[in-house]
Amino acid sequence: MESKDADFEESRPLTHEYHDRSEQQARSYGKSFAARLMINSYLVLLHITIVALVVVLMSETSNTSPSPAAEGISWSPARNIVEYEVNGEHALNHEVYSPYSGPPTDEQDQAWTHLIEPIFFSASAEELERAGESLHNAVQMTEGGYLATISVYHELHCLRQLRWFLYSDVFYPNRTMEEDKYLHGHLDHCLEALRLSIMCHGNTGLYSFSWDDPEARQPTTRSNARSTCVKWSSIDDWARSRNGSIDPLLRWPLRGDHRAGSGS
Ligand SMILES: *[C@@H]1O[C@H](CO)[C@@H](O)[C@H](O)[C@H]1NC(C)=O
Ligand SMILES: *[C@@H]1O[C@H](CO)[C@@H](O)[C@H](O)[C@H]1NC(C)=O
Repeated sequence: MESKDADFEESRPLTHEYHDRSEQQARSYGKSFAARLMINSYLVLLHITIVALVVVLMSETSNTSPSPAAEGISWSPARNIVEYEVNGEHALNHEVYSPYSGPPTDEQDQAWTHLIEPIFFSASAEELERAGESLHNAVQMTEGGYLATISVYHELHCLRQLRWFLYSDVFYPNRTMEEDKYLHGHLDHCLEALRLSIMCHGNTGLYSFSWDDPEARQPTTRSNARSTCVKWSSIDDWARSRNGSIDPLLRWPLRGDHRAGSGS
């Protein structure tokens, strides 16, 4: 740095003003010393600023979401535990089922139950307040603390409810008109919750379309897109570490301690 700056200074052309040579030299040396001092101070400041910026950026990205709009998001007890991975999974084949899709079987019911099992956990008053939640009328748990969940579990719960309705012959074979009306209201709310979440996360992976069968009535979707996804085990581990439960014991205002009983 030092020698380079010096070279830079000395390679400057002299001014064309008429001056006594020695006076000009003296002035030039004085000027160049001041300029050098200024440039050096400037460079030191710039260096400190860049190092500080890198440190801040690295600490910001090391344990939070890579989302560019992370500033201003609400605090959550799970905010800093989430890990990410690049994932290229797609549900494109209509005949290939995952443990969660396809016509109902016992294995699927178990897979869904295992997935949603830790949905409800006990949050402390401090946690609710830090997350911006009101304690007014907040549901308390028998074990202590307040009933809480995180958004992704609410969305999974909604998906499972929609799935049950899709296969209502199996899951609600004898439902009354009143129950049917309740389900429509609930599931409409679920569709809205899922719409908001899907649009919030706005996956931009490219899909194209193909004619797998020249006589097909519809094109087939295809994609090789890879997305940044939450590493599910990071959320699952956290929810289980909070002793999350699907059917927690609650303090009801009039009935005393009871299970929620909805089976979520
Ligand atoms: C629905 O009703 C049928 C006929 O009354 C009965 O056999 C069946 O057990 C009922 N299913 C459920 C899930 O309640
Ligand atoms: C979860 O339950 C275990 C066993 O009952 C207990 O030791 C632990 O403190 C609980 N953890 C939380 C976060 O409540």
